[in-house]
Amino acid sequence: MSAQIWVLGGTGRSGRSIAAQLAQCGLTAVLVGRDAHRLHAAAEQTDSEALLAPSLATAASEIRQQRPSVVVNTVGPFTATAPAVVDACRAVGSHYIDLANDVAALSAAFEMHDAATQAGHTLVTGAGFGVTATESVVVKLCEGRPAPLRVRVDMVPSMAMEEGTAGEALIGTLLGGLEGRQITDGRLGPARIFSDAMRLTLPDGSQVTTASMPLGELLAAHRASGARHVLSASSEAPSSPVIRAMMPAVSTLMRWERLRSFTTRRLAQVRVKATERPREHSWGHAVVTWADGETREGWLRLGDAQEYTGGVPAEIARRLLAGGGRPGAYTPAALFGPALAESCGAEYLLPQPGRR
Ligand SMILES: NC(=O)c1ccc[n+]([C@@H]2O[C@H](COP(=O)([O-])OP(=O)(O)OC[C@H]3O[C@@H](n4cnc5c(N)ncnc54)[C@H](OP(=O)(O)O)[C@@H]3O)[C@@H](O)[C@H]2O)c1
Repeated sequence: MSAQIWVLGGTGRSGRSIAAQLAQCGLTAVLVGRDAHRLHAAAEQTDSEALLAPSLATAASEIRQQRPSVVVNTVGPFTATAPAVVDACRAVGSHYIDLANDVAALSAAFEMHDAATQAGHTLVTGAGFGVTATESVVVKLCEGRPAPLRVRVDMVPSMAMEEGTAGEALIGTLLGGLEGRQITDGRLGPARIFSDAMRLTLPDGSQVTTASMPLGELLAAHRASGARHVLSASSEAPSSPVIRAMMPAVSTLMRWERLRSFTTRRLAQVRVKATERPREHSWGHAVVTWADGETREGWLRLGDAQEYTGGVPAEIARRLLAGGGRPGAYTPAALFGPALAESCGAEYLLPQPGRR
């Protein structure tokens, strides 16, 4: 086993951010990518090494041969890419981290818990801003408490965008969020998307509207709390009433695989202009209600959400390389507790508990 951290999708926004943040703590990542020119540019930019692998199948076969200690997979959609990479990691005992942020990919990862435990390797899924920022607040609020009745989590990302195309990985995940789901009576079931709109006053006094958009946060908040009813919402969900009214029909259409693939490919080519971060902070937020009516609310405050998506896997990789963690499949705070979010530069704001 070579004491190395490999980053698959090393040319992407997240891959480069992870490598840069590993470099800041003195660790040299090996960036794995399929385009030699972009790969070497990314490696130079982030003080990393480069490994050219024309496809993910080649990358998986390199993992089996070279046995890196930790593999970070940033190539979405993770329902498609994770199985082969996890298989390779499990075969040689490499730890595995990914940025999955959709319900299907997180469910698939949790199903690999027993196999990971038996193989003695750790699998961490959802290691990006959305899952980490929201589940960490839930874990913090529920520490030492019985399972609550109801949880709502909201993610409010703020990030600078670099010029380029949106990319299939990101669009695939966003389209995954169009399948309305929530946890009702302890079960994952269908729900209207972009519903349950809520006007939130952020701790800095500004306001934002969030609405239901069930990504991986939903499952992570459910597992972290054991609550019977869980809803996950995002400020990225359109808040216009007209768009909200149209979305259930769009979401039904997106269940047709051919239409989804076509739309993903087209949207992936849309060019995105460079934009500044719209607000100073990104936020994770949770409201937890117990059966006796007690309600607790908490926030996690951090800077740029994309940078945080680089920082979380970098910190997890560093800890796994140092022998931390335990075998099995987990989300970040489930494995390392709520302090992980703070190690990555975020801060909790927890108002005093009260009754509503
Ligand atoms: N959990 C969270 O909160 C969170 C936050 C941010 C992102 N994410 C997820 O993380 C993923 C990456 O996001 P990103 O913004 O970094 O995307 P990105 O900038 O588009 O980067 C994607 C990377 O994957 C590579 N890639 C794409 N398809 C590939 C394939 N078939 N074989 C090999 N490599 C392939 C790309 O290589 P090329 O350069 O060769 O195209 C690129 O290096 C997305 O799925 C996104 O949804 C999750």
